[in-house]
Amino acid sequence: MSKRTVSVWTDNRFWVRSAAWVTGFAAMLLIWLTFDTLSQISMGNDEDLKNGIAKRVPGPTVINYKITYEMSDKRGHEVPVIGGKEKFFGKDDWSEEEARALLHLGKLGSQAKNCMNCHTLLGNGAYYAPDLTKAWLDPAWGPTGPYLGMTGKDTKEEAMAEFLQHPSQYPTHERMMPDLKITADEAKGLVAFLKHMSSIDTNGFPRNFGKMSTDENGGLTLREKRGAQ
Ligand code: HEC
Repeated sequence: MSKRTVSVWTDNRFWVRSAAWVTGFAAMLLIWLTFDTLSQISMGNDEDLKNGIAKRVPGPTVINYKITYEMSDKRGHEVPVIGGKEKFFGKDDWSEEEARALLHLGKLGSQAKNCMNCHTLLGNGAYYAPDLTKAWLDPAWGPTGPYLGMTGKDTKEEAMAEFLQHPSQYPTHERMMPDLKITADEAKGLVAFLKHMSSIDTNGFPRNFGKMSTDENGGLTLREKRGAQ
């Protein structure tokens, strides 16, 4: 009697078992990735900021701090650096509740006025108008940029709030932002929302955004930035 050799590749049980193992492994991996992502994107709080604990999404009171970017050789792109304290709308220390309320107002405002219809926020939206993810760091709002002078304001946040309320009065671009009837309070909230967003560690996205240099003097002008894009 001749012995029949059965190849493992033609054995049904082998394929059934492999399918079960691969499906099981992929399911475990997805569950692990989901929980890992949740912890990465959950917002930090005031304690983290005070203790210098870096969170990808810092707590609302990050609006009390200076935000800059530095090249990380390890990660190969720029990462947000939360610096010392700075006033925000003339106020020294926004409490966690106040900052949270202000950010909430800004977030609702950005949804009600549909900024994403023209701009991009954190990778979502349109590219008709400049990406807003790091707009807070746009040198156009710094001492060398046009907005402080045009709006007659002393600080970046006040200039931005003024621009948002009357954008068509301060055109710096071939395309003009329409007047969206944003109130003074909404504008304050939106500026806080933009400042907070600029502090989020987005793995270097968007690449090569124009930003203020650390000494806030060597930044590009808006035109140079647009030309470089
Ligand atoms: C209909 C399109 C449109 C909508 C909607 C819109 N914008 Fe704009 N926005 C523009 C355009 C165009 C510019 C460029 C204008 C300029 O430079 O003068 C601009 C410029 C800006 C700037 C300056 C950009 C920079 O790099 O510093 C900010 C900040 C801004 N918009 C915020 C907002 C916010 C916040 C909202 C939602 C509340 C919003 N925009 C809604 C079209 C729009």
